[in-house]
Amino acid sequence: MECKTPIGIFDSGYGGLTILEQIRKRLPQYDYIYAGDNARSPYGSHSYEIIYECTLQAVKWFFRRGCRLVILACNTASAKALRTIQQKDLPVIDPERRILGVIRPTVESLNKITRSTHIGILGTQGTIASRSYPIEIEKLFPHMTVESEACPMWVSLVENNEHDKQGADYFIKQHLENILKKDILIDTLVLACTHYPLLEKKIRKHLSGEIRLVYQGQLVAESLENYLRRHPEIALKCSKGGSCRFYTTEVEEKFASMASVFLKEKIETERINFET
Ligand code: DGL
Repeated sequence: MECKTPIGIFDSGYGGLTILEQIRKRLPQYDYIYAGDNARSPYGSHSYEIIYECTLQAVKWFFRRGCRLVILACNTASAKALRTIQQKDLPVIDPERRILGVIRPTVESLNKITRSTHIGILGTQGTIASRSYPIEIEKLFPHMTVESEACPMWVSLVENNEHDKQGADYFIKQHLENILKKDILIDTLVLACTHYPLLEKKIRKHLSGEIRLVYQGQLVAESLENYLRRHPEIALKCSKGGSCRFYTTEVEEKFASMASVFLKEKIETERINFET
């Protein structure tokens, strides 16, 4: 009998932990491997080629660890690399394995959230430049109007643990004002970067109560649960022990101490290199 293996969760750094947390809440029975490419993050300002190469290396690393299912818990990697890896690389590497991203489940939820049908997307430069959100929204909900805003400083605020400090307000206010100026009818703002939930308090402070924020964690977790229900052939290959192991391309101590800001618990980490 084939042995069962953990579900892989990948992010450029810490942001994917906000997705992992919700996935583990919803599907605690499975085993997970989380890997962050912290040594090369942030991905947001890298070129398409670099993001694609780094993500592909990470996916191959998860596959060498046996994972049959890998979630790209990173909008930048989902926007820039997912489609190419699914269409070009996966058929060659192993057509039996699966890679899922975070953009589709987020977009699918929008018609239940917006009333005005005017949507704002907040993300990294890479995600916004890829136009993945407007393209995906146009496919599913062509009646919706979409504006986007790249927030290049927001990931750095989180990665440097400055997100709760006073200086963060300037950058948060600036991008919120920018996007709402582009379309005053926006009633729904998508936090299209897995780091952004950590900025929630400050984002709320600078927004009117009328505007709804879309967080991806629960949406991705719900969509994964549906996926596993619809694909028992994949679900049956995922091991169920309720464990989670953490890996990073940075030094262990640095990852572990920042990860505890995201997860509010202490974790053990192992340093890895995606190329080996
Ligand atoms: N957390 C990643 C995302 O969702 C981006 C962080 C980065 O720029 O590396 O887009």
